[in-house]
Formats: sequence, C-alpha cells, structure tokens
Amino acid sequence: MASPLKVLFVASECAPFAKAGGLGDVVGALPKALAALGHDVRVLIPRYDTIRASTVRHAAPMAIPMGGGELWCAVEETRLPDSDVPVYMLDHRELFARGYIYDPPNGFSPDNLLRFAALSRGAFWLGRHLGWVPDVFHAHDWPTAAIAMYANTIERDTPFGRAATVLTIHNMAHQGIFPASQLGMTHLPSWLMRSDGLETHGALGLLKGGLFHSTMITTVSPTYAREIRTRQGGFGLEHVVNFRGNDLVGVLNGIDDGIWNPRTDPALPAHFDADDLSGKLECKRALQRELHLDVRDDVPLVAVVSRLNDQKGTDIIAECVGPLLSLGIQLVVLGSGDSQSEATFAAWSHQSGGRMRAWLGFREDLAHRIEAAADLFLMPSRFEPCGLNQLYSQRYGTLPIVRATGGLEDTVAQYDGMGGGTGFKFDHLSHRSLVETVRWAVRVWREQPEHIRAMQQRAMRKPMGWDLSAKQYDQVYRWSLERRRGGV
Ligand code: ADP
Ligand code: GLC
Repeated sequence: MASPLKVLFVASECAPFAKAGGLGDVVGALPKALAALGHDVRVLIPRYDTIRASTVRHAAPMAIPMGGGELWCAVEETRLPDSDVPVYMLDHRELFARGYIYDPPNGFSPDNLLRFAALSRGAFWLGRHLGWVPDVFHAHDWPTAAIAMYANTIERDTPFGRAATVLTIHNMAHQGIFPASQLGMTHLPSWLMRSDGLETHGALGLLKGGLFHSTMITTVSPTYAREIRTRQGGFGLEHVVNFRGNDLVGVLNGIDDGIWNPRTDPALPAHFDADDLSGKLECKRALQRELHLDVRDDVPLVAVVSRLNDQKGTDIIAECVGPLLSLGIQLVVLGSGDSQSEATFAAWSHQSGGRMRAWLGFREDLAHRIEAAADLFLMPSRFEPCGLNQLYSQRYGTLPIVRATGGLEDTVAQYDGMGGGTGFKFDHLSHRSLVETVRWAVRVWREQPEHIRAMQQRAMRKPMGWDLSAKQYDQVYRWSLERRRGGV
C-alpha cells in the first residue's frame, strides 16, 4: 500500500466501551478496518464512569490548558477488542464521571461545551503526552468538531498544525449550540465568532465551526451527503455544506463482522447463515418464549430496535400499533426515548395478549436476539444519515421495511415482485403508507415464501464489511493531506 498514516479518532462514543447509538458502533469498528490496511490508528474518548473495561493507567498525568487554567487529567489505555488498536481514555472525574455520556436522564448538562472542548483540545495534548504527531485527526459530530478550529488557530504553528482534520457528520440535527459567552473557556480565539465560523444565530455552534474549518468533511451515506445540501436536510447549515461541497464525501457505514454475525453471535440461542436458515426459526421461537408472545411459526414477527424519537418516525409506529396488529402480525419494540411513544407501546404491550411486546430501555444482547428472530424489521425514519440496524437486520436475514431516505435508500434494494431486492421501501411518511407497506411485506411473506427466502439469502450474502468503506476513508485522508500540506 501507499505510505501508512497516523490517524487519531477523537469521539464521544466508542463501542463496546461507551455507546448511545450508531456513532459508537462506527468508532468501535472503522479503526480496526483502517489498521488492517496498515495504518497506525488510535482512538481517544472520555473515561466515563460507566465504562467497565479494564485499562492501564499512564503514570504521568496530562494537563490541558482550558477554562481558567489547566485541566489535570489521567490517561488510561486499552485496546479495541480483537485488535491492536489503542484506545486512550481521558480521565477527568469532574467532567466525565457522571453516569451519562451527554445529558442526565430527563435533564441536561450545562457544561457540555467545556466537557467536549476539553476532549477536543485533549487530542493535541495526548499527542504531546505520547510523543506522537498524527497525520490526520478524525473528528465525529459536534462533540469533537472543535478539533479543526484548534488545528487552524492555536495549534497552527505547532507540529500538530500540519495534520489534516476530517470531520464526519453522523447527524446534522445535533449541532452543539452553546451561549456565545462560554467561548472564553475553550481558549479558541474570539474572532472565530463570525458567520463563516462558530457564530450560529448569535450563539456558538460547534458543528458549524467544524464544517468551515475541517480540511475535509464526510458523512455516512452518499444520499445523506446530497440531502444535507438541501433546506430540508441541512437543519439551517445547508449553505455551509454547499459552500464546502467540493470537500464533502459520503461513505457508507459497514458492519463489524466480529460482533454482528449470525453464525457466531454469542447472544443467540441458535446460529445460522445464508445456506442454512433453520437456526433462525429456533431464534424466533426462543424470542417468542422470552418475551411471552404466542409461540407461532406462522405469524410474521415484525421488530423495531431504535431510539424513540422524531428522527426515527417511531411516533408514527406508536400511533399505528392497532392497524399493524390487525394485519395478523406480532410486533416487538426495543427502545427508549420519547415518553409518549414509550407509554403507548407499554400500554399495547399490556393489553395485546401475546401479540405485542415492548422492552423500554437499552439492551445490547436483546437487540441481537431480536435482529435474529424477526422476519421483518421496521425503520420508517424521517431522516437517516446511514442507519446500522437495517444493515444488521439484512445480515441476520430479517428483511427491512424502511422509508427511502439517506442511508436507508442506499442500503436497501426494493422488492421487485419476483424475488429480487432485499427489503421494502416507501417514500412518504404517513400512517397510511406505513401500514400499507407492512401489509405488502406481510402478504409477500405469507404468499410468496420462496421470494422471501431468496431475498433473505441475498441480504445475508451482501458484502457490508468495513473493509470497503475503510478504503474510501484512506482516500479521503490522502486528499485531506494534499489539501493541508500540498502533498503527502
Ligand atoms: P442511531 O445511531 O441514529 O441511533 P443506528 O441505526 O446507526 O441509529 O444505530 C443504532 C445502534 O444502537 C445500533 O447498534 C442499535 O442496535 C443500537 N440500539 C438502538 N436502540 C437500542 C436499544 N434500545 N437497545 C440496544 N441497542 C439499541
Ligand atoms: C447517527 C445516525 C445514524 C448513523 C449513525 C452512525 O446516529 O443517526 O443514521 O448510522 O450515526 O454513523
């Protein structure tokens, strides 16, 4: 390969250590695929107290200039499972030992700017601490978007100023907006508070600043890369995205085969693959027993695993439980979030006999068993930058029913009436189109089992590994270095 690169991922989540959603999955998997290409890839995340992994604590502490003075931190070190990729954790108890990643349940954390600016600035001080100067800082979403601004200002004339910065947008709806008066604590220069910088309607917007200042920008699917250039998808930042349009690339997320593989998954009661799906039926029966549903092979099991919020369209599912159950299906929902949807799902769970079950909360092992057991997977997102669950469900032979948006459009192929395709898609999010699309899928499931089988096998065999995307990130890193340094 071309010369190996030194890449530091800096993020607020990294599975299996800290995960609130797909961002954690990506940061826990992509570095391994890049390391397999020969790169020296390392990861920096906060040392949340919720992390259970065993780590080695560096003897020397590390000081980050921040706030009124210096933040003294410890550095802890471990590896991504099944790899040599180092994961460094920034240990500052006051900032990160709070039992949550972003905000407490039903509350909000008033000092998130300080917490995540410290992580971003900490990336440079980790480099000094290790005597290791990355070629590329790879930031993810608003929490680490400030890296690009540090690189272009107070770090510009240090060895770290030669590094390129790549910002991956996993979700445009969250922009890291804080009162402008808090800028001082970040040590970023005040001139950044302008319309082609941090300033967002008079407040400080980390994502906006990151979009202007990163050497290159990626997002997690080609369709989402187009959508964020529009008024509907840009959440007010579409003009910035368009301004940076030549430096924006959409790269699809992949699947970590070591974690999401129906042949080996330790969370499953039985295993299966595309050649022999019999274990899948055992998984279905076992889940029906586990969740006290009627144990019936002849009833299609439709599943939802999701954060319950506007983005995911789960409010529409909650409003349609009655009509959906009247299609003669079983419905399983694993998720948490919006309290009204939670209450609706809980009520149906109580009153539906053995036809519907809701498990409200976050439970990794159950998510795996549901992906394996279900026949159909429902994901009617209003917008979806990439989405991982529809990938996992395809890998587990569970055909997705999705709204054709963002990464869902890119990763699910429409059923063609003859056994082609890998799922069922609809365009318009409404109660009617949701129920009608499920009706369509259920009819095919009942009347055309050979089509379903062909689609399952196609979905399960589809290459979705991170190796494909890692090659594209490799290219993005090289382009960024050319832009930053005029050549690698
Ligand atoms: P997003 O990051 O927008 O939530 P993705 O589909 O990219 O959506 O990723 C969601 C990830 O979080 C998947 O790994 C999924 O299995 C997991 N997940 C979501 N909700 C739950 C839950 N309630 N319990 C366990 N895992 C969940
Ligand atoms: C975000 C998006 C989701 C994406 C994930 C990982 O949470 O909502 O679509 O799959 O990030 O990139």
